[in-house]
Amino acid sequence: MAENVKVAVRVRPFNDREKQRKATLIIDMKGNSTYIKNPEDLKAEPRSFAFDYSYWSHDEFKESSSGYLEPTGSRYADQRRVFDDLGRGVLDNAWKGYNCSLFAYGQTGSGKSYSMVGYGNNKGIVPIFCEELFKGVEDKKATAGENEEYQVTLSMLEIYNEQVRDLLNPKSIAQKGGLKVRQHPSKGFYVESLVSCPVSSYNDIENRISEGTRNRTVAATNMNATSSRAHTIVAITFVQKTPNETGQSMTRTSVVNLVDLAGSERAESTGATGDRLKEGSAINQSLSTLGNVIKALADLSMGNKKTVVPYRDSVLTKLLQNALGGNSKTIMIAALSPADINFDETLSTLRFADRAKAIKTTATVNESPTDKLIRELREENARLMELLKSGGITLEQLQASGGAVGQNPNQEVEEMKKAMEEELRKNQEEIENMKKTWQERLSEQETANKGNVDAERKKQEEKKVIPHFWNLHEDPALTAMIVHFAREGTSKIGNKNASPPAEITISGLSIQKQHGVVTNKGGVVKIKSVDGKILVNGAKITKETELHHNDRVLFGPNHLYVFHHPQDEAKNVKEGKVTETPTYDTAQQEIAKKAGFMDKTGKSEDDLILQEDVIQMLPMVNEADAMSAELDKKVKFELALVSPQARGLKEGKTEVMVKIRNLESGNEWLWDRNKFINRKFLMQEMYQNYVEGADDWDVPREKDPFWEDADVEVLIGTVHVHLMSLSHKLDIEETLTVTNYQGKENGHIEIEVMPCTTKGGPLGEDDFLDDPKELVGKELNFKFKINFGRGLPSNMRQSCCKFKFYLDNQYSSTAFVDGMNPEYKFEKLFKFSKCTSELVDYLMDSVAVIEVWGKQKDSSQKGGATLGADTKQLMAREKSNLFGLSNYEEEQAKLKKLGDNKPVPVKKAAAKPADNNKDNGVIIPVPPPPAADKKQTDQQINTYKKQADDANQRAKAAEQRAANSESTVSDLRSLLNQKKRGGNDTITIAELEAMLGGGGRTSSSAAQKENMGDQASKACSIQ
Ligand SMILES: Nc1ncnc2c1ncn2[C@@H]1O[C@H](COP(=O)(O)OP(=O)(O)OP(=O)(O)O)[C@@H](O)[C@H]1O
Ligand SMILES: [Mg+2]
Repeated sequence: MAENVKVAVRVRPFNDREKQRKATLIIDMKGNSTYIKNPEDLKAEPRSFAFDYSYWSHDEFKESSSGYLEPTGSRYADQRRVFDDLGRGVLDNAWKGYNCSLFAYGQTGSGKSYSMVGYGNNKGIVPIFCEELFKGVEDKKATAGENEEYQVTLSMLEIYNEQVRDLLNPKSIAQKGGLKVRQHPSKGFYVESLVSCPVSSYNDIENRISEGTRNRTVAATNMNATSSRAHTIVAITFVQKTPNETGQSMTRTSVVNLVDLAGSERAESTGATGDRLKEGSAINQSLSTLGNVIKALADLSMGNKKTVVPYRDSVLTKLLQNALGGNSKTIMIAALSPADINFDETLSTLRFADRAKAIKTTATVNESPTDKLIRELREENARLMELLKSGGITLEQLQASGGAVGQNPNQEVEEMKKAMEEELRKNQEEIENMKKTWQERLSEQETANKGNVDAERKKQEEKKVIPHFWNLHEDPALTAMIVHFAREGTSKIGNKNASPPAEITISGLSIQKQHGVVTNKGGVVKIKSVDGKILVNGAKITKETELHHNDRVLFGPNHLYVFHHPQDEAKNVKEGKVTETPTYDTAQQEIAKKAGFMDKTGKSEDDLILQEDVIQMLPMVNEADAMSAELDKKVKFELALVSPQARGLKEGKTEVMVKIRNLESGNEWLWDRNKFINRKFLMQEMYQNYVEGADDWDVPREKDPFWEDADVEVLIGTVHVHLMSLSHKLDIEETLTVTNYQGKENGHIEIEVMPCTTKGGPLGEDDFLDDPKELVGKELNFKFKINFGRGLPSNMRQSCCKFKFYLDNQYSSTAFVDGMNPEYKFEKLFKFSKCTSELVDYLMDSVAVIEVWGKQKDSSQKGGATLGADTKQLMAREKSNLFGLSNYEEEQAKLKKLGDNKPVPVKKAAAKPADNNKDNGVIIPVPPPPAADKKQTDQQINTYKKQADDANQRAKAAEQRAANSESTVSDLRSLLNQKKRGGNDTITIAELEAMLGGGGRTSSSAAQKENMGDQASKACSIQ
């Protein structure tokens, strides 16, 4: 009978970061209902959703001495409760012979793995299920008759970027393109040559799953893959052979699929808007297809019979076809993040879960007489052989057997033939297996495994006495999975091509054959780099450095480890010294700090969110940079923090962006986070192909994720036009400085704003308004002119200006004009037939932001200074490494050698743009002064102080200027009124000059004039 998929949601506690920034809780639960509040509108009625189970695991718990999180109130749902509700049902159904599936869905870090697998003593559904299953088997066996048999086999696979990897078969992990997914005409999709491993006890299964996770960690790190983008499927096949009442042997089979899905946010957030490669990435295919399949199935269950379910569109949905719409009892657990910042993702998870509720599956008991199964297999084999002998399957036969024929039918027929051969082999193996006793299979497996189990046991023992490195991974499930020992004597660190082989083999991005050396002399462990980059506690090492317990060590851009020294640790404990165990976050934070990114001492929520983004993005940027170097792509990536003003917005948050610089042409672009993450994924794919030795790893420019076309527009900078004069119906004519995101001046543009009649004609002299409020309800027309630009950056081929006025939702834009000194000759007439008070307020208080965009010159138009140099050489030539990993130590060492005590040149702190007095919020990372050299430190500090003083002075001058402008306008106004009252309608040039440039208030300071520079209004003419 068809029954609905059971859906549970579970909300986790705040993590440390959320606690630190005092995140707002937006989830609530009552009974089976879950409520979510919109953090932007906390007073509004929360949205509510009803599920089979709503699990509150956010608070009302404490950690017991064993580390188990136990309830302190009735609300908290612990691991046991979740298992009792969900896992136990799966267990019962497995015994009955139903196929079962359990999915965990949710964004990265929401608690999917916690519910499925769990951490430490907080075991999740998978281990408890296995434990209980074997308990049941043991109980049965105690009273079992001769002909009863209980068989459990396990397989574990990962789908990453539409490729399947067998986690129990390390050899398959390196296989190019992954394992094949094939279709059996009646049994559906399956993975070719997937290891299905017989297991005899809970211990056995636990070891196997750890082995799979270890393989996964090595693969993820070596392949430089983002683990939260992988789907993991653990499949347990449970076979019971028992005689029925008549003594006939019956086989009852249940396949239990336990699926930990990839982080769901990736499905939506590839919104790399405007990027030509936005469709290129296949990473989300499985997850987005899962969404489509669930939508289609929900539609079907509503009675829409015509809906086609797109199972075939992704590997995940092919493999889970049964679980989703066929013979399976299915449960979904949706993991929720509790914090305000995750509102969008959490809401989308709730919607997804809500849709899944509607899906129906029809599970049947899989039970048949054992001989019948063998007979059927034999018959099937005979049929396949016959078919293959006669030339295989034809197109007609394929269609008749229900195989949907796609765009390439002949290829499908070929595939089908291969599938038949594989099926034949599989059937044969199955028949062989059936002939063997279960005991035989188990002991074969045990022998094959013995070496591994012994090695693992030895490793666990050695960890207690030998200093070693253990890995830190972004995904806590993959942390502490890899261990490298620093044994007495010398251990070389190198990649897998090192000859002779290195004692510590690490493979992957930017790991050299002779990367470094570790020495252990009587427990004193030291490390030094040879050809590779090594960071200890966030700083690059240039000489042999002693390691201490819990030190953080980074090899290349992404192999992060913690050094564990058992004897040091014991000594620390004895002396009462507590050393915190580092986490991935704290280690990355340290690296970012040393690279000068965590300078902001403020702890506002925005700062903390920005810091989180930096911690997430910096390792990725460094990886992208390392890939560019290895693939010789001649681009460099740097992290940039860009204020909203510099992005052309009046308000908002400072954002982390990525600057990509073409090392040959010098062209630069800023990519937003989504575009970069999407591109980085494609880079990884390319890098992987390169590593696998594919001839076609490189692709044409239009598909190359490292390539940005000179035609892609870049923001040269912005200018801010104060509109106050317009509110008095006075002209504005100004030459304004274009300021880029770093506060650097990038040329000027001249603009005019001229109030006019409806038809664009000049206004009468009486139209001047003393009080802008008089405008309310009246007509306002003006021409907005952008005349020309001067001194734009020389690498710009063309530029254009665009802006939005008041409530415009479309940009007004000039044409693209060639050269550094473009003549835009732009004019637009704005008409407001009745001014609202909001419009008048806008004119009085706001600025119009003009964005100046450019297209850079093509690299081929550049000189040949870089010709012949590869990316590594070009990068080395670029001395400024302010954005990347800190090489401060190196620079200092070099300077010392030269006997030069000058501080390392640092980029100037961002100056406030002089055309407005708002902080442009740009944070330029500067490396920290070295603690070792006092004189240099003082010099450095003085430089910083001076920069800060300069910036302050400029800010003050800008403030003064704003005040002066206002008073000049007010002076003008009174002069006008005075003239009007006296019946005089002329102001002489001399009078105007006196007011604008000469005596009175504006003469107050020469310095101020200098500061006003080109920003100062040139003239004010009265119509
Ligand atoms: N119910 C819970 N109780 C206590 N801690 C939890 C709970 N759920 C999750 N956590 C903690 O939150 C963190 C993230 O959880 P988890 O690793 O399960 O996320 P995930 O959804 O699997 O993420 P990813 O997509 O990256 O694999 C872990 O440190 C985990 O211990
Ligand atoms: Mg996980």
